[in-house]
Amino acid sequence: MKIISHVVALSNNNVIGVNNDLPWNLKRDLLHFKEYTTNKIIIMGRKTYESIGRPLPNRINYVVSRTIDKIEGAFVFDSIDGAICDAKAYCVELNLEEIVIIGGGFLFRDTISITNKLVLTKVDCEIDGDVFYPEVDLTDWTEIDSKSFMKDSDNDFNFTVSTYDRVR
Ligand SMILES: NC(=O)c1ccc[n+]([C@@H]2O[C@H](COP(=O)([O-])OP(=O)(O)OC[C@H]3O[C@@H](n4cnc5c(N)ncnc54)[C@H](OP(=O)(O)O)[C@@H]3O)[C@@H](O)[C@H]2O)c1
Repeated sequence: MKIISHVVALSNNNVIGVNNDLPWNLKRDLLHFKEYTTNKIIIMGRKTYESIGRPLPNRINYVVSRTIDKIEGAFVFDSIDGAICDAKAYCVELNLEEIVIIGGGFLFRDTISITNKLVLTKVDCEIDGDVFYPEVDLTDWTEIDSKSFMKDSDNDFNFTVSTYDRVR
């Protein structure tokens, strides 16, 4: 296992969620999310799990919670460290390369220091919300890929998917 990544969609003002939901409809970004995470271990907080409503198919679902200890179709851990440690061992067992942290705000904030890859969907809007992605100093990162998408009937805003590797 070499990579621990964040995959997240954030607005220009760092909003990622509102009322335990996404603040936008971006069908194309959901497809990107599905493609990027398929066949990987994904780690999420309990609220993100509840917002999605089910374990995501074709991915190994890890949920972090101190209030829930069992979810059918997912592994539940009472600490982030416990989830990461188990995921690393499982990656070795399954010969996987990457653990993807998929949110939400608590998980992103508490794991940014251990990530070495960011896959950021930068949504071109200022929007109200109640959950934020932490401020990241992008001088510690180098952009390795970027692709832009235009607003249309299935996508509320223009957005760019940018991938970064950590350089320090
Ligand atoms: N835009 C995006 O890319 C994106 C991605 C994911 C989520 N979201 C949005 O983000 C929002 C949800 O995020 P959130 O920050 O409210 O919640 P969250 O991070 O998904 O989940 C928080 C919960 O995770 C558990 N948890 C967190 N840290 C823990 C720790 N150190 N040890 C044990 N358990 C821990 C706790 O569950 P218990 O209370 O059960 O103990 C906590 O209440 C939603 O609006 C969702 O739509 C957006």
